[in-house]
Order: sequence, then C-alpha cells, then structure tokens
Amino acid sequence: MDALFDAFLGPQGENERWFRELVDRVVAWQVQWRKTRFPEDPSVYTGRDERSPTFKRRLEEALDEFLSRMERNIPFPSPRYTGQMLKDPGLPALLAYFATMMINPNNHAYEGGPVTTEMEMEVVEQLKQMVGMSQGWGHLTSGGTLANMEALWAVRDTLPPGKVVFSVGSHYSWKRICSILGVDDWHELPVDRQYRMDLNALEDVLRQGRVTLVVANFGTTGTGSVDPLPEILDLRQRYGFHLHVDAAYGGYLRSALLREDGQLLAPEETGAYVKPEVRAAAEHLGQADSMTIDPHKHGLVMYGAGGVLYRDEKFRQTILNTAPYTYHVKEKPNIGMFTLEGSRPGAAAAAVWLTHRVLPLNISGLGQILRETLTTGREFAARLTNETSWQPLVDPDLDIVCFHPKDAPADPVAANHRALDLYRGLSVENPSAPFILSKFVVDPATARTFLGTQGALTDGWTTLRAVFIKHWMRLGPKPTALDRLLEEVAKF
Ligand SMILES: Cc1ncc(COP(=O)(O)O)c(C=O)c1O
Repeated sequence: MDALFDAFLGPQGENERWFRELVDRVVAWQVQWRKTRFPEDPSVYTGRDERSPTFKRRLEEALDEFLSRMERNIPFPSPRYTGQMLKDPGLPALLAYFATMMINPNNHAYEGGPVTTEMEMEVVEQLKQMVGMSQGWGHLTSGGTLANMEALWAVRDTLPPGKVVFSVGSHYSWKRICSILGVDDWHELPVDRQYRMDLNALEDVLRQGRVTLVVANFGTTGTGSVDPLPEILDLRQRYGFHLHVDAAYGGYLRSALLREDGQLLAPEETGAYVKPEVRAAAEHLGQADSMTIDPHKHGLVMYGAGGVLYRDEKFRQTILNTAPYTYHVKEKPNIGMFTLEGSRPGAAAAAVWLTHRVLPLNISGLGQILRETLTTGREFAARLTNETSWQPLVDPDLDIVCFHPKDAPADPVAANHRALDLYRGLSVENPSAPFILSKFVVDPATARTFLGTQGALTDGWTTLRAVFIKHWMRLGPKPTALDRLLEEVAKF
C-alpha cells in the first residue's frame, strides 16, 4: 500500500477512474438500502416517471452556475498552495462522508445516529491510543475552537477559580473564549526564540498565585511550535494546575512515531523527521489533562471534524445536559449529553472512522503521510538557509516554516518591505502567483526577542509562512514542487 498516492483523488485527479467507481458503488448501495428498507411500500413517485422539465432545467442550470463559481476557488489541493492549513481530504473521508450524508445522521443523541455514534466512540478511543491517553473520554467537535471552548468551560465549572494561562503563540480562540465565558483572569505568556512558551515566565506566574489552567501547544498555528511538555509537566507536579494541550494541529504527528503494535519507534528511526525535543513532548502528550486534536487538520478529513479528549471522567458530569424530548435510549451513549454543541454530523464521525480504518494511526498508515510533511518542513528550512537569502524564523518543530530575510536583524524595516514584496508576489494577493504562501506577523514585543531592536517595528514584523500540511511537495519528477518553490522564493 502506498498511502501517499493511493489515498487521494490526486492534485490532478489522477485517481479519477477508481474514485468514480467507488462513488458509483456508494450511490448504488444507498439506493439499494432505501429500496430494501420497506419493500412492501408503494413508491410515492408512482406515475411520476419523468422529472419535471422545469425543475430539471433549473437544477441543471443552477448546478452549472454553482460549479463555475466554485472554479474561482483558490487551488487548495495543489502542491503550489502552502498558504493555510487546508488539507486535501483523503478518499476514505470523501466516500464515508458522501455515503453518510445521504442518510444524514445526527450524533447529538444515539437515536439520531446509532451507527455513527458508535463510530465516534471508536475513533475517540483510537485518538486516545494514538496520543497515549490511557483513560478518560472525548468526542468530536465541529473544530478546534469549539473543542478549546468546551474544555475551558468544563474546567471553569469543575475546578476552583484561578488564572488561565496561555502563550502569545496560542491560537486566537483562547482570548475570545475567555471573553465568551467571562473568564477575565487570563494571562498571556511570552515565547522564546523557538516560539515556544517561555517557562521562566510561566513559573513566575505560578509563583504569584493560583493558576487553574495552563494551555500548552503541540503545534502552534503560526509557527507549528511544540511547547516543552516534559518541563511543563514538572511544573504541574510542583504547582498543580489543569494542563490542556492544544494539539489541534500537531496531535496526529504521533502516528508517525508509532509502530503497528502501538509502541513508539526508536529515536534513531524517527530522528530524520522528528527533533528530539518534539519527540520528548510527543512521548508525554498523553499526560495532558485534556486535549484538542482535530481530524480536519492532519487527519485527512474535511472540515467539521475537531476533537476534544479529557483524562478525567469528572468533567462529563459538569457539562451534563438532559432534555425532555431526546436522549431516550438510556442504555446507549448519548454523546450530546456531554457536549457544548448540539447537532453534530454523523458524517464527520464516519469520515474519521473510515480514514482510521484504511490508514491506521501508525507509521504504516497515516503516519507515512505525516512523516513526509515533517520531512518537507525540515528540508525546506535547511535549503532555504543554504540556497537563498532567506532563513527560517525558528527551526521548525513540525511542518510549518516561517521565514524572513537573513539580514533582518541588521535592518528590520528593509526586511519587512522585502517580506511584503514576496507576499504580494507569492500569495492570494497575486491572481497569477506561481505558489501561494501566507504571512505570519510577529507582534512587536516578540519581534524584539528575535531582533533585539527597540520600537522599530511598531506594526509587527512580517515573515512569510509555508504550511506543508499536504505531502506532495517532494514527490514526482524533478524539479519537484519544493525545488520550484525555493526557486521562486530566491527571486525576491
Ligand atoms: C493550534 C490551534 N488550535 C485551535 C485552532 C482552531 O481550530 P478551528 O479553526 O478548527 O476552530 C487552530 C486552527 O488553526 C489551531 O491551529
């Protein structure tokens, strides 16, 4: 099995024929399922063998218009797009979602989605196993923001009050969530030169008074940085706090570290694509008290699939919710009784289930793909330094690489202009851009950590950002997409 190629439609629809056959099979299966449910019933379509020409025309014309509008999309599945965390969903997710959405189950209550509720429970167990969380529970969410929000809500209402602490590298949702939940006592920590949480600053805050929740990142949104979990866990031991790890982006990385039997690969087997500090953090990931992990990022699933895990069952009781009109099937799991969200698509659970089934969460399955994206990040960072006048902002922990001109510390203002030039050439701002990157603006205070200048960059320091969430960059004939991207960057 070569998941790198076989598991996708392909950037140029290379697996078209096979995909059509599979879609056809799904449609035939669905029709058969409908026909055989109540075969004795007369068809409500009796006497209506022809579709109404007006409706047929209207639908077909509207579909033409719709498809032509959709063509104006940015080419997200292409290796030339490395702007944001947009993944090309794999074939298993496409097929499972398509098959399930025709039935449209709702995983809010067992009665609304019996099959997909069971699938959700199974994939949550698989996620827990992958991250090394030996106990607890969890569920899928519509995304990372909702997972973060539910975790903070559960913690706020279960544990004694105290500060909520996260770093400046954390996802913007944390501040928003604090605002929504009325948590005013939050503190934003600075980051070090790897864009990881500054542990001295964390300890200072811990010494000052009660901290209820510390949010660590396993893959920050901006730079993909992984916070030092072993050291943070030592601090938890000394000071006592709830550790939530936001592994929305990076959590699936652990599949690239696992053998088929679930044991960790030896460091010498993973050294080429995982740095020792990241590996150490990954080894400790399961000790988090709660965690966000999103199948719709590195899990090859389309949007609408985040996830939250809790190591302690007690949080379920806090957010327990009942209703007079649902949850009637008592002896079965009603996931919605313990979720912030109400209706949740069974199709998302199905997409995760079939993906995990085809690509198990280890190095022989989904881990192959992660290994490739991580290798791409490392190779891009090294070649950027060797082959161009640009350099990475941080030595990348995962597969996101931010970069800036090498001479930025000498002349940050000129470097900012050069970065903006590159951005205008290689981003969504240029309709004929040969490659699409994004940018990452370092806030002025953090910029001083890197540049040592005072006040020169009041609007922040612009760096470029490449997100190698898709694994195509090093594949195919030479020059590969990665070679060509480096050539383009070198022109600026
Ligand atoms: C680390 C991290 N946490 C949370 C989120 C929020 O996830 P979502 O956009 O699925 O709500 C993101 C999104 O990029 C993220 O990178």
